[in-house]
Amino acid sequence: MNKVRITSRPFLKGLDGSPTFLYRLTNSSGAYVEITSLGASIVSIVVPDRNGKLTDVALSYATSDGFLNSDCYFGASVGRVAGRIAHGKFTLNDKEYSLAINNGVNALHGGIRSFSRRTWNASITPSGLKMSLVSPDGEEGYPGTLKVSITFSFSEDNALLIDYKAITSEDTLVNLTNHTYFSLSGEESNSILDNELQIEASRYIEVDKDMVPTVSKSVIGTPFDFTHFKEIGRDIFENNAQLNIAHGYDHSFILNESKTAYAYSKKTGIMLTCKTTYPILHLYTSNFVNVPLGKHHHAYSLYSGFCLETQLYNDAINHPEWPSVVLRKGELYHHQTLFKFSAK
Ligand code: GLA
Repeated sequence: MNKVRITSRPFLKGLDGSPTFLYRLTNSSGAYVEITSLGASIVSIVVPDRNGKLTDVALSYATSDGFLNSDCYFGASVGRVAGRIAHGKFTLNDKEYSLAINNGVNALHGGIRSFSRRTWNASITPSGLKMSLVSPDGEEGYPGTLKVSITFSFSEDNALLIDYKAITSEDTLVNLTNHTYFSLSGEESNSILDNELQIEASRYIEVDKDMVPTVSKSVIGTPFDFTHFKEIGRDIFENNAQLNIAHGYDHSFILNESKTAYAYSKKTGIMLTCKTTYPILHLYTSNFVNVPLGKHHHAYSLYSGFCLETQLYNDAINHPEWPSVVLRKGELYHHQTLFKFSAK
């Protein structure tokens, strides 16, 4: 029997003043995850440190304005297409599409009225908290009516499972992710430079000066080598062309077959194990974060969290050599990512 309890309470105002709710999934140890229907966003992940002290390891906002207007996407469910589409242009079934440009010269994270800013429908199901929405045909320039559901479940052993499903009325592009900023020393610590990371990936994808993905390269001998545990801050300030463009890590890693990554804080002993069905882990180290009104009204700045955005390849629609992000009419889009917390 699932012992995890789900409770809810009214939350901040969403888009167009819509009411939103905050759901709490609590297991019998008292550890919990909070998720709001505002952007289907993860608001808190509260898990025990090595001394059993409950510690919040996820960044979030204090205000509606944060959820609706910040470019950080704290905790958000991102879609229709996570990551960048170069110049917002693509061709599908011989038709050219132009998307809104919302990040330099590119389209980023689903556009202006992206899934992260929508109020989702929430329902409590036997498998967890299900968030769903319908994205109308043509929304943000994408073809096809897309029905999306994301189910969040939390287990007795502190594992948060995110299960993504989508179907479309016409061929379209889909690449859904979650944009949680983790901070394993506690979200109020405001630095992840001492958090250690291991990513089971032997290649990463370089970007051009506009952050458009170009080619994959071996991580060996570069600051992108996370094949063994390494502090995020160890190489981040190296004079490396890729780190200079992105002001830190903001790059896709091509996961090896195990599709696993680990993160650890020596300070709290909290270990995060990430396992996914997705081929890519996009590491982002808060290179542009400046949020004066973070959760509990404290500020977050540069390097205050790290994101493990599991997803399909960025800009794959313009790179035929990479696995496709096209969802065909009649197909089911289905991916899962597990974030499991332990302490030692
Ligand atoms: C992703 C992008 C970053 C940044 C963040 C959100 O990680 O790759 O460049 O836009 O989202 O702020």
